[in-house]
Amino acid sequence: MDLERLLTDRLTPAFAAVAGEPVAPTVRRSPRADFQSDAALALARRLGRPPREIAQAVLDRAVLDDVCAVAEVSGPGFVNLTLADGALAGMVAALAGDERLGVPVTGEPETVVVDYSGPNVAKEMHVGHLRSTVIGDAAVRVLGWLGHRVVRVNHLGDWGTPFGMLIAHLVDLGEAEAAQELSIGDLDGFYRAARSKFDADPAFRERARQRVVALQGGDPETRRLWRLLVGQSQRYFLTVYELLDVTLSGEDFRGESAYNDRLGAVVTDLDRLGLLTDSAGATCVFPPGFVGRDGVGLPLIVRKGDGGYGYPATDLAALRQRVDELGATRLLYVVGLPQRQHFAMLFAVAGQAGWLRPPVRAEHLGFGSVLGPDGRMLRSRAGGSVKLVDLLTEAVTRATALARTRNPDLDQAAAEIGRAVGIGAVKYADLSTDRTRDYVLDWERMLALDGNTAPYLQYAYTRTRSVLRRAGAVPGAGRVVLLGTPAERALAVELLGFAGVVHEVARTAQFHHLAGYLHRLATRFSTFYERCPVLRADGELRASRLLLTDLTGRTLRQGLDLLGIRTLDRM
Ligand code: ARG
Repeated sequence: MDLERLLTDRLTPAFAAVAGEPVAPTVRRSPRADFQSDAALALARRLGRPPREIAQAVLDRAVLDDVCAVAEVSGPGFVNLTLADGALAGMVAALAGDERLGVPVTGEPETVVVDYSGPNVAKEMHVGHLRSTVIGDAAVRVLGWLGHRVVRVNHLGDWGTPFGMLIAHLVDLGEAEAAQELSIGDLDGFYRAARSKFDADPAFRERARQRVVALQGGDPETRRLWRLLVGQSQRYFLTVYELLDVTLSGEDFRGESAYNDRLGAVVTDLDRLGLLTDSAGATCVFPPGFVGRDGVGLPLIVRKGDGGYGYPATDLAALRQRVDELGATRLLYVVGLPQRQHFAMLFAVAGQAGWLRPPVRAEHLGFGSVLGPDGRMLRSRAGGSVKLVDLLTEAVTRATALARTRNPDLDQAAAEIGRAVGIGAVKYADLSTDRTRDYVLDWERMLALDGNTAPYLQYAYTRTRSVLRRAGAVPGAGRVVLLGTPAERALAVELLGFAGVVHEVARTAQFHHLAGYLHRLATRFSTFYERCPVLRADGELRASRLLLTDLTGRTLRQGLDLLGIRTLDRM
């Protein structure tokens, strides 16, 4: 049971009785007491009573004696709650005996589709795909751990008119040569070469055009060449996922082409519903409420003037498939904020068509850009977009070098540490800021052993391990927990907050709240570690401190694992 929940449950009936209607007590952590509710302040205007009086009336009714040492009105009308040490100790002891660290599996499991990564065939993944992959992976881990059925979907860009030119270029190069280029990950080089021929050479352009027709018409040879391109790119993307240490696998690719058979029905059904409008030759839906700067309605183009289907039609078909065939009730799309309007319109149109209706919800988990040290969009030294593998390799190289400098005795282990720390640092930098904001890729800061960084948390974890190793015993459950000092007490309160944060993050996908929680926990542990001798304590005190140490380690490990970040026993 997490503390916010517990106190909320205690205050809810009291607020309802005082207000004569249901009121959310909004219990929050507070520096003045352990927790604070400011609900009486908001209620005062509505009830026409002084907030302090309301707060007192609530406290007169709420049952808090068994959990709180102090429950009082403060300031203009806050309810301040300080937990009783005995109650805290009992809850921490129970937590220690729970494999799930107090985090229950959900009582309402649902099928959640997480659409993430989504790179494009024969194009280099860029940092936007990195963010999508890292954030999506965290979503998958959190929801899965809570007992939801999670379907990973890698909506690969594997269809559309550019494939005409890509296939024509592949034929020019020869299959073997093309495969070689693509397998070493020179995707952009391949794409650029195709593009420049397309722009410069009318004969090539014509061959490309014919290939598009042949591809759409199902010509076996053209399809084979297309599959070759897709296969090579997939193999390459898998190496990036492997390096990035995410749970995406080959089975999760479900490219845009997978929905080809369903595109016709999208148009027919929208037509039957009377939602289609012709606009400049294209077939469109104009969802209400979407207007451009000129005040004119914005269309979602379902079918282009040339009869082809595009990105929006594919997304409509995919949405239906996820709801109807996969039985999803929650659809998450982890895609950069530049596509905000696309998703808003997609959901609006799907809603109009009745394809998206409660209890099914769709959410665009948008994110900002990665910036270079100069505060501008991240660019490579040559000025192009940064190759993802290069970025990840640099992270690992830097982290390995740092590990060696800190501890010259490491030999083999340095590589493993470098990998866990380097990749962890990249992921943590991404997940520890509000995802809707841009963030600066700053190696020094990301890899620092202090501050809100992965290495700091990983290091805190190894400290817990080393204490337990030296103690020679893992504390069992059901032991006495002693919270005699402020540092122990503060650590205990923090440990009890894990469940609340995990459930909140599952709802909001604001992973920086989980990161912030872990950072607070590590900070509390650090203070505890400085002030409270563990190995030099005796008897019950030693056992209690070992239990707190172990519980902190397990919580850090689980929390980092939910973010896709590895922990190490030594570093
Ligand atoms: N391939 C797209 C891109 O690179 C991302 C796909 C996102 N998913 C979706 N269902 N539209 O921008």
